Amino acid sequence: MINGNDLEVTLSPLEEIRFGIKTARAANLTLNNLFQVIEFCQNHAVRLLIARCHAHEIDVVQEMERIGFTLTDTLVYYVRNLKNVPLPQLAPSIEIRPMMISENDQVQNIAAEAFSNYISHYHADARLNRSLCDETYKDWARNACNHRDDTHDVLVALREGRILAFATLQMNDRRQGEGVLFGVSPSSQGSGLYKALMTAGMHWCAEAHAQEMIVSTQIINIAVQKVWSRLGFEPRNYVYTFHKWFEV
Ligand SMILES: CC(C)(COP(=O)(O)OP(=O)(O)OC[C@H]1O[C@@H](n2cnc3c(N)ncnc32)[C@H](O)[C@@H]1OP(=O)(O)O)[C@@H](O)C(=O)NCCC(=O)NCCS
Repeated sequence: MINGNDLEVTLSPLEEIRFGIKTARAANLTLNNLFQVIEFCQNHAVRLLIARCHAHEIDVVQEMERIGFTLTDTLVYYVRNLKNVPLPQLAPSIEIRPMMISENDQVQNIAAEAFSNYISHYHADARLNRSLCDETYKDWARNACNHRDDTHDVLVALREGRILAFATLQMNDRRQGEGVLFGVSPSSQGSGLYKALMTAGMHWCAEAHAQEMIVSTQIINIAVQKVWSRLGFEPRNYVYTFHKWFEV
C-alpha cells in the first residue's frame, strides 16, 4: 500500500475474490502520482485498476484517457449541515427503526433486487461478469448488517409490517455522519420510502452529534439527488472513476 500526499493505492482482496482478477484501487490520482500508481500495479501483477480522481484534476483525466483508462462512472457528493438548519419531520405514516438480527436476509434480498443491473462502475465495465457485479451490493448490505455498533447502523422502513427498504449509516468521525447504501424494493419505489429513510438518517446522524451528513451517488441517479435537494443537501465535490486493464 502506498499512502502519501493524499494518494491511496492498495490491492483489493475483496474484488480479487469476487471477480477472480487481481485488482487494485487508487484514490486521489493526480498527474504527479499517476505513474507511481501504474508502477505499483506492474510490481504487483495487477490486472484491473479502479482509479478515482477529483473532477477538477482535468490534466490527469486527459492523461488517463490517452493511455487507455476507461471512464466508468462519476460520483457526486452532497452535504447537509445538521446544526444550522432545522431537520425535516419524520414521516408519521412510515415505520422506520433499526433492523433486527433476524432481518438480515430480508435486507440482503432488497439490496439484491434494488441493485440488480444498477449503474455502478462495475456494471459499466463490459469485461466484468454481470451477476457478480450485482452481488457486490448484496454483499455490501450483508457486511453492514453484520457490523453494527455505536457508529454503524442499518435502518429499515416498513409498511403493514413488511420491510420494504433499508439504509446503512455510519459516523466517519466525530463530526461527520454518512448515508452509505440505501435500497427500496422495486415494487415499492416512487412512494416516498427513500425520502422517509433519508430523513430518519439525518436524525440518526444528529443524535450521534454529527455536525454534517454526507451522501454520494452516481451522477445519473437523479431520483436520489431530487430527494437530497428537497432535504437541504448541497453539492460538495465530484469524483471520476476509471478502470484500467493491464495485460499480464
Ligand atoms: C433511488 C431509490 C432509492 C429511490 O427510492 P424511492 O422510494 O422510489 O424514492 P421516493 O419515492 O422517495 O422518490 C424520490 C423521487 O425520485 C423519483 N424517482 C423514483 N424512482 C425514480 C427513477 N427510477 N427515475 C427517476 N426518478 C425516480 C420519484 O418519483 C420522486 O420524485 P417526485 O417526487 O418528483 O415524483 C430507489 O429507486 C432504489 O432503491 N433504486 C435502486 C438503488 C439506488 O439507486 N439506491 C440509492 C443509491 S445511493
